[in-house]
Amino acid sequence: MKGKGIALILLLVLCLLLSGCAAKNNPGAEPRLLLGFSQLGSESSWRIGNTKDIEEKAETYGISLMMENANQKQENQIAALRRFIAYRVDVIAFSPIVEEGWDNVLKEAKQAGIPVVLVDRTIKTEEKDLYECLIGADFYQEGVSAANYLLRKADRSGKDRFQIVEITGTEDSTPMRQRHAGFMDTIAGDERMQVLESVNGDFLKSRGAECMRYLLEKYGDGIDVIYSHNDEMTLGALPEIEQAGYMPGKDMIVISIDGGQEAIDILKAGKINCIVECTPMLGSTLMETALALKDGKNVDPETHPTEAVFSDEDDLSQIAPRGY
Ligand code: AHR
Repeated sequence: MKGKGIALILLLVLCLLLSGCAAKNNPGAEPRLLLGFSQLGSESSWRIGNTKDIEEKAETYGISLMMENANQKQENQIAALRRFIAYRVDVIAFSPIVEEGWDNVLKEAKQAGIPVVLVDRTIKTEEKDLYECLIGADFYQEGVSAANYLLRKADRSGKDRFQIVEITGTEDSTPMRQRHAGFMDTIAGDERMQVLESVNGDFLKSRGAECMRYLLEKYGDGIDVIYSHNDEMTLGALPEIEQAGYMPGKDMIVISIDGGQEAIDILKAGKINCIVECTPMLGSTLMETALALKDGKNVDPETHPTEAVFSDEDDLSQIAPRGY
């Protein structure tokens, strides 16, 4: 009798545990929708943080996720989108590596009646209505914020000349184009600002180092400012500056974009002067948008997350852990 009682209690505990798991992961329950997501690659800690956030939020929202990583190749992304169409997913989302070249595959998605969401970056299309909406940062504003920091720094220093080198992201990508345009438009007309050269670092740490080596060999101490389109390339460039005998953050102003933990720690140490935030945490908005589209609701054509600027003008002690 005593044995039976214990068995009953154990059974009860097991049921409670199982129902707890079920509430969390919803196993066996029908997913609320099937989302096909094509990630463009794993080039940066930003991208890895973005992938992780989307995977986690899909689970939280009870959405079944088909995720494919294109390893930096547009043709892989197009093939992934075609697989999602063949599989008849409810919603397709993707982070386009470059802006052009998507019309054909998006027409196929439209014909199949599958709504498409752009995540992180935008595209240029010849036809209207090939996608529903864009969820991603305002990259132009990020370039403006980076330049505004430099203009304030210039005002404080009283110097009359700032020679700038720019390390840009992936050619023909939205962040590359818009971060460049926002920055250049904002410094245009300020006679103190002179751009020595823009070089392409493809958002990669190794390329950031190569670009910086090349720029240092060519311009040496003629460089006053390094404007780098992402933290990854900045992290590649910094050791090169030090090896060449300069103190980044002091001899040369360093401006970066993203705001990942490693770069924020270096900002606190004084080797980066300013980081414009670009948040990879787009997962919740993506899941809510996908659910709305499945229900036939209207969605905002563009959603930009709110982003901060961290710099040596601020008290940096209160920055919360970044999560990427
Ligand atoms: O599209 C966002 C950019 O892509 C991030 O700034 C960069 O780190 C990433 O690789």
